[in-house]
Amino acid sequence: MSEMVKVTVDDRTVEVPKGTGIVETAAAAGIEIPVFCYEPRLGAPAGACRMCLVEVEGVPKLQAGCTLTAQDGMVVKTAQSSAKAAQGQNATLEFILVNHPLDCPVCDKGGECPLQDLTFRYGPGRTRMTFAKRTFEKPIPVSPLIALDRERCILCYRCTRFSSDIAEDGQLVAVNRGALSQIATFEDEPYRAAFSGNVIELCPVGALTSTQYRFEARPWEIQNVPTVCGLCPVGCNVTATTREGKVKRILSRNHPEVDGGWLCDKGRFTFPYLYADDRIVAPLKRVRRLGFDQISWDEALGEAERLLRGAQGRIVTALSGSEPVELAYALGRLLRGGLGAHNAVLPEATSDALHAFSVPLSAIAEAQLVVVVGDDRVVDRAPIVDLWLKAAGRRGTEVITISPAGDVQVDPGAAARVCRELAGPAHELGTRLRESERAILIWSGSGGGGGARLAELAHALGFEDKPGCGAFHLPATANARGVAEAWAAASDEEQGESPEPIALLIVSGDDAAADPSVRALAERADAVIALTMFHGLSVGWADLVLPATGALERDGTLQNLEGRLQRLRRAVMPPVPDELEWISQLAARFDVEVSAHAAGVFAELSAQLYGDIAFAAVGEQAPLPARIGYEPPPAGAEPATTPAPAAGEHFIGNLRLLRYRPLFSGPAVERVAGLQFQRPEAELALAPEEAARRQIADGDLVSARSNGTSVTLRARVDGTLAAGVARIAAEHAGELHREIEVLKT
Ligand code: SF4
Ligand code: SF4
Ligand code: FES
Repeated sequence: MSEMVKVTVDDRTVEVPKGTGIVETAAAAGIEIPVFCYEPRLGAPAGACRMCLVEVEGVPKLQAGCTLTAQDGMVVKTAQSSAKAAQGQNATLEFILVNHPLDCPVCDKGGECPLQDLTFRYGPGRTRMTFAKRTFEKPIPVSPLIALDRERCILCYRCTRFSSDIAEDGQLVAVNRGALSQIATFEDEPYRAAFSGNVIELCPVGALTSTQYRFEARPWEIQNVPTVCGLCPVGCNVTATTREGKVKRILSRNHPEVDGGWLCDKGRFTFPYLYADDRIVAPLKRVRRLGFDQISWDEALGEAERLLRGAQGRIVTALSGSEPVELAYALGRLLRGGLGAHNAVLPEATSDALHAFSVPLSAIAEAQLVVVVGDDRVVDRAPIVDLWLKAAGRRGTEVITISPAGDVQVDPGAAARVCRELAGPAHELGTRLRESERAILIWSGSGGGGGARLAELAHALGFEDKPGCGAFHLPATANARGVAEAWAAASDEEQGESPEPIALLIVSGDDAAADPSVRALAERADAVIALTMFHGLSVGWADLVLPATGALERDGTLQNLEGRLQRLRRAVMPPVPDELEWISQLAARFDVEVSAHAAGVFAELSAQLYGDIAFAAVGEQAPLPARIGYEPPPAGAEPATTPAPAAGEHFIGNLRLLRYRPLFSGPAVERVAGLQFQRPEAELALAPEEAARRQIADGDLVSARSNGTSVTLRARVDGTLAAGVARIAAEHAGELHREIEVLKT
């Protein structure tokens, strides 16, 4: 317990832990100290703007309050009680405004701008500046997503500190000195990074703005809807700003345990996909080999009923893992409860056994030791987890990645073997994990038994008895854990063998439609019903297409990778009926009762899974549920594992293909023009020794071949990659198989 000290702020005495910032101490006394550059999430204060000037008893000059910490007996006077501090702040604002344009009526920040607000409250009422202010070319493109109106910048360095100290991308920098200081990108290259959009929210003036939001709305004509991002399993808490029924921007809604107030650019900038030109807004029925007819919803439900009855239970459902739990459960009730169609392709090998090891994501930053296993980069699967890992690194946590590009290099698909080894009694790293009170395990990859393997390892290491130790499996989609649990809860029957032949495949969602293994199933199925948002995905092979909705158009709950159930709120009405509405109608044709409302479906599910909590009680900032006891997977329920080669085994001459799904990929990202510059290059990464062996230099065109197919890509020599491996983004890997031959063209 930290020592408590007494501090007096403007004649109010408060007791706070020693070392608390004076801005927070004053806030605890109910007194505001205005700030611009101060932002505790950015680390140590910069003391750059002097907006926070206060008088401290015994110190002759005014002090920057944000740089001070609480000491016993300290007496602080803010502008409210000290004329000297008030004059200092007034002068600071006058100085800041010397070159600030005061174009609030046309500035995107106007109406929600700290500089505007604080100038009204603390600044001079009139200007003494009669000369022309500085102007610059405007707006300066920081990237296709961010614009800089340089004349508005007050040089608080929040943006550059975020870039260098939080995202650690080092791309946004301050150039020149003194009055000529300017914010710029490194070597004027576009700011191309996973988290760049946070600088827009951090900027306390209208200098950095979103190109998507510029001139789109004024603060008095918008609604802000609290919801969660549905684009990856982190489940960042967000606010969707809407105007006239359309989403206009996504902002962070700081959940300190989940996202720390940061968003990745995928979550922030992908929402325009809702308005893509190829959005499907009416059901479609195949009438010719390559043609569809638009049909009414009545006809569509009739057709769905006909296909479901005709399949006689020989049905497979491919779930994407992006569905809210209510949708997965409603589908499960209809298909499993009503039709005995228990077979599903679930999105990812998650495991409910992980509930025994749950800790908040913020625990990563507090850990002593973090071990990451799996083939995929954390930033591609769950971006904010990467920021937590960076925060941990800055605090001195040892972070060890065991992957084909990790600190410890292993072959692709080796994660399950690594877990088995770590669980062994004589393993050095395993022993350290076992002995640590604050250790975290992370599995970042597909296959290999994923969540269940990880839970077994955490159990073997005794993590369930240590509240500071936890395990996270990073699924590829937002609600893989919730979907798996909801589907399982929909019936007591076992899944059983996959029907052969498959009479009907139901593909739920665009992530499932984009999955090549689902596509392969579709080729074998007699008929396919696709729930999709866009033309061009499953439409090519579906017999009946039912239009789907996006996360910002849905009501329900999502369970994130921590096992935290979070409330998804409908920010805008979809252009098509909600899925629950027509599932409820379809289910009625099979005498199955399914509520048409998320609250109704949730009530049924909650009784089974969530301790009967009410829908309304899921809350704006959901807590992490308490741990439950570890239950080993039932005998015979061994999850499928990807066969992994023994350590050190390589295919002579050929390389193992490491296919990955980059953060900026997938059906939604592909439909947002502004995000295209973030998408991965058509490149093949390989280790320096493999490049040398093939006389390949960085940037050369190479041909990757296997089983009669080949793709041409640009080579990138990557010193972090293990020998024997070639890494290619899934969207550029075509039909390549596991083993490929790589030649210079
Ligand atoms: S651009 Fe904004 S955040 Fe960056 S230094 Fe200028 S005012 Fe601060
Ligand atoms: S990290 Fe995931 S949940 Fe958070 S904003 Fe990005 S895509 Fe959305
Ligand atoms: S807020 Fe203290 S110096 Fe800027």
